[in-house]
Formats: sequence, C-alpha cells, structure tokens
Amino acid sequence: MTTSTEILHAVPESRWTTEEAWVGTRRPVHEAHALPADCYVDDAFFAQEQERVFATSWVCVGLHDELDAPGSAIVRTVAGRSVILTRNADGQLRGFLNACRHRGTQLLEDDCTLGSTIRCPYHRWGYDRDGTLVATPKFAEAGVDGFDPTDYGLHPVRVDTWQCFLVICLSDETPPVSEWFGDLDARLAGYRLADWRSHLTETFEIGSNWKLISENFQEYYHLPWVHPELSKVSRVQDHYRYQGAGMYCGQTTTPMSNDERGDWAAMPPAEGLGHSDLASGRFIALFPNVLLSLLPNHVFVMRLEPIAPGVTRETGTWLLPPSNPHVADADFATTRDFWLDVNGEDIEIVQRGQKGLSSGGYTPGRLSPRFEEPLHRFHNMLADRFTGSTRIPDGDESDDQPLYGTGVNPLPWRGVDV
Ligand code: FES
Ligand SMILES: [Fe+2]
Repeated sequence: MTTSTEILHAVPESRWTTEEAWVGTRRPVHEAHALPADCYVDDAFFAQEQERVFATSWVCVGLHDELDAPGSAIVRTVAGRSVILTRNADGQLRGFLNACRHRGTQLLEDDCTLGSTIRCPYHRWGYDRDGTLVATPKFAEAGVDGFDPTDYGLHPVRVDTWQCFLVICLSDETPPVSEWFGDLDARLAGYRLADWRSHLTETFEIGSNWKLISENFQEYYHLPWVHPELSKVSRVQDHYRYQGAGMYCGQTTTPMSNDERGDWAAMPPAEGLGHSDLASGRFIALFPNVLLSLLPNHVFVMRLEPIAPGVTRETGTWLLPPSNPHVADADFATTRDFWLDVNGEDIEIVQRGQKGLSSGGYTPGRLSPRFEEPLHRFHNMLADRFTGSTRIPDGDESDDQPLYGTGVNPLPWRGVDV
C-alpha cells in the first residue's frame, strides 16, 4: 500500500512557509491587506502552492455523474500527478496513480470506458478496477524470482464523493472530506444535490491566476460596475454571509429579485425546497477549486485547474434537479446565456487583474470588511496550508446577525428545511 509520504514531494522551507510572509493576511479583517503580487505571478510560489495547497487538500476533479456509465474512467491531474478515477465491479469509487507498476508507463491518456481491465499499452500488464494486478503476459513463464503480483497493484489515491462532486486528496494526513467542508453538507441538505444531473459543460481557458477567479467570485463589491445586469437579479443590498465552520467561503442573495429581470427564473424550481432555499441564491467557494452558484432551479459549477501562475482552465457545468431533468431548450438557453454573459464579464476583469499584478510595483492594498471578508478567510486558509496549520476555520455565529453593515438576513438558513 502506497502512503501519501511516497506520493507527496518534500517541499523545501521558504519564506512562504513562515508566518512573517503572511503578516498582512493574519491581521483582523478591518486591518488586513490583500495578498502580495508574487502569490499570483511567481513561478516558485506557484510550484510550492501546488504541493502545499493542491497536494494536501480535497480537490474537486469532476461531477459524480461523469462516472455513471458502467466501466467509465476519468483521468485528471492534481498537483502534477495524473490520477485515474473509476468504479469497481461493485460500483465503489476507486482512484489510482496513472502509472503502470512494471516500468511506469502512463496507463490512460484520457477519459474512456474500460472493460473489466485497465491494460498497459507497453507490455500489456492488466489491472482490475480495484487496481489489483491480474495479468502479466509471458512474465512468470520467462523466469523471475520472488515475484508476487499482489505487491504490484496500482498505487491507490484517496477518492470520495461530496454532494454532487468527485473529490480526491493526495495526502493521508488531511481529515475526511465530511470534516473538510464542515457544516456545509448540512447547509446544502435541502437541495439533495447528489440527485442532480449535469446538463451542459463548457470549458474556458483564462489568462489569470486561479485565486483571482475565486476571489472575484467571493466578493460582491464589483457587481454594480462589472455586472450591471446581474445586479438587477442579485442586488447588492440583498447579500449576506452564508458561512459556517468548514473550508469554504459563502454568501447568499436573499431574496433573489425578478422585478427587472426574471430570466434566471425561466425554469421551474426544484421540488421540496424549504422557504430560505427557495428564495435565495447561494454562492459558495469551496476551498480550493470550486465556485458553486446554487439557485432554486439550477446549479452552475465552475471547477478551476491551475495550469501556470497566469493560466487557469475553468470547467463550467450546469446541473438540473431530479424533479425537472428535461426543460425546454429555450428556457435552458436563457439561463445558460445569462451565466455566459456574467462569466465573460468576470473573465475580462480577472485578466485585467492579472495584467496589473504582473506589471510590477504592486504593493498589497486593503480589503473592505463588508464586501471582502470572505477573501480574508480564503487568504488565511491559504496561509494555513503554507505554514502547515491544519486548522479548519470557524464560521459566523448565526446567519441572521448583521455583519459589517449588511443588516439582518430576512430569511436566514436555520439548520432545518423550513
Ligand atoms: S510498462 Fe506497463 S506493462 Fe511494461
Ligand atoms: Fe463577478
């Protein structure tokens, strides 16, 4: 059995592994600074971030229904390691490093449908979908001493599902995903997301660091200027925090408005939602790489894959609820186009952000506690991974308190499906 100590690379100490590097982040939110430019543009920071953050976190690699078809397998790269995800003959999720145990050849190039066996293209060693080595053509007959196939199964990787997501973690030290996301599982229980299905997926190549995309998603300060149309539906004054203990940053728009633009409500809502969920939009950044927009009638998920300091691949998927899996094309197109417009506006502004941060001379600015508190929380999660803290942040005391001038949420989530 491979342990994460063998999978993980030793990361040398650097200035980013010391608390001194994060002084502006560690200050209370009313005094905190934004991150330094190096966190977005520097190759050495990026390499360390891959190890310190992406190799030690529960990273989303897809939607659960990507493995619905029998024998289906997907290939994803996390922190530089290629990983195969599939289901075994009993339907249980399995994850392996994508390298043959004979001489290391990459087993699968891309997503595919497997038979019962994963075959290496080089000398045809075969592994079942539990990773057990089951075929070594001509190997034993050719003469070899002390060879036990059970010693040469595929190296396992921790995999799990959480809500509608497939997640993997390269480290054995990280707590289970149920602890990682804290109370969010309970918060989202009313939506029953595990029953929702993907309707459409589109991929975007973005010229910015992954954190700029996540930070931009987390704050509603930019809404009036960057998204004049979205602000009619998700009004600035209707934003509240939606943030308990767990590795996520969240806000809610309660209520969503449809006085000026009702097109987000073109499709009927999911059946069985409580009052708060039915009236609200939930906007949650899962640490590190998912941006989840939950509306009563659809979900839009963006999954981020850092490619380079200034390049991120974003996979956007629209999901529909089980009570409403087939919708009129025109109604879905209205919702899709709404998000494509919003996403296009966000991509343009984060790419401008990357240009500014890359141009040299930027020193960290200040954060607005009212609008940008989630960024402070996010930056501290990042700092924790770099400095080796395993802390999972606490949340707000309750959802109905006034926070930093946003007032009292008129219809808070109360921990039950009301
Ligand atoms: S490297 Fe895979 S069978 Fe030889
Ligand atoms: Fe935005």
